[in-house]
Amino acid sequence: MSTLPSLIDAFGRPVRDLRISITDRCNFRCVYCMPKTVFGRDYPFLPRAELLSFEEITRITRRFAARGVRKIRLTGGEPLLRHGMEELVEMLAAIPDLEVTLTTNGSLLERKAALLRSAGLARVTVSLDALDDATFKRMNDADYPVAKVLAGIEAAAHAGLRPVKVNCVVKRGMNDDQIVPLARHFRHTGHILRFIEYMDVGSSNGWKLDEVVPSAEVLRRIGEHFPIEPIDPNYPGEVAQRWRYLDGAGEIGVISSVTRAFCDSCTRIRLSTEGQLYTCLFASSGHDLRVLLRSGADDAALDAAIESIWQQRTDRYSQLRMAATPNLKKIEMSYIGG
Ligand code: GTP
Ligand code: 5AD
Ligand code: SF4
Ligand code: SF4
Repeated sequence: MSTLPSLIDAFGRPVRDLRISITDRCNFRCVYCMPKTVFGRDYPFLPRAELLSFEEITRITRRFAARGVRKIRLTGGEPLLRHGMEELVEMLAAIPDLEVTLTTNGSLLERKAALLRSAGLARVTVSLDALDDATFKRMNDADYPVAKVLAGIEAAAHAGLRPVKVNCVVKRGMNDDQIVPLARHFRHTGHILRFIEYMDVGSSNGWKLDEVVPSAEVLRRIGEHFPIEPIDPNYPGEVAQRWRYLDGAGEIGVISSVTRAFCDSCTRIRLSTEGQLYTCLFASSGHDLRVLLRSGADDAALDAAIESIWQQRTDRYSQLRMAATPNLKKIEMSYIGG
């Protein structure tokens, strides 16, 4: 593959991590993401012709890989709902020097883990917001039980998609009593549990600052039961801050996008289901790559578009959050990709 000069944005940040939303559909209605009051059961999701095809996604990914992208994260919505998505994994995994990863709610993972692994998937991150069934069902609002997600996590680890990361979004008054039980459950399993501060992403979740549980509080609560100490990041710009149990029971992480923004080292770009490119999770508009692809653009034209979009990038929403206008139009996470 031809390798072009690496791309740097207006603040000197390279592009390393491409997150691709492959469907806007989801079988959950998590209160912090796709609340039923707003999305209902029959929300008008995108028609099929609007979605980028696997070939189109692969072509865009190749262009990014040539500019320094080393990790792909497939997201959604729920990415395992996209028919035949393991073929896409296979197509992407064939691109040299690229790690293909996936974020999923785990509902279809038990069935798909082995297939995904043989298609070339490297790792998987599973969302799980509670260990208590009633609390989990209140969070996912789809009557989905904890046991099936736990079975998905075990199937993934068994298939070799290790280490499995488990993401828990903490919403005060809803699941903050689950912090310690979750920590206890995943000690000694080799899975990496990470607590995420509830973010003001999109505009449908009715976000309020007092519903955010700061990571410092999460760490204090866990530390009271199981002593922990910080450890170094795996790579520059890692989103999670890592901690480990002093007794050797494993590692946990916190993602503090509200109380400790990490925009300075943000190397992420997002491709929506219908081919809009977003340079920030909180961007109010994207750049239409699909129109370019479908009008017959060659690789040089695609490269030029990508180059100009990234070079002009000045996003640092999380650092400006409190100063930003609260009425700013924001894109839903289920559309732009988590
Ligand atoms: P690995 O290090 O490869 O495991 O990936 P990751 O840490 O990027 O993991 P993941 O995709 O699971 O991200 C975890 C969560 O962090 C997401 O679901 C978001 O809630 C949050 N997050 C990820 N990227 C960003 C970002 O660019 N900005 C903000 N504000 N939050 C982010
Ligand atoms: N705040 C923080 N994380 C969120 N996610 C979705 N909505 C939010 C939000 N409001 C992330 C979670 C979930 C993934 C699919 O998207 O990490 O696990
Ligand atoms: Fe679906 Fe994930 Fe959003 Fe929950 S957080 S509604 S599982 S896309
Ligand atoms: Fe990156 Fe935007 Fe998130 Fe900051 S708010 S870390 S710039 S995606």
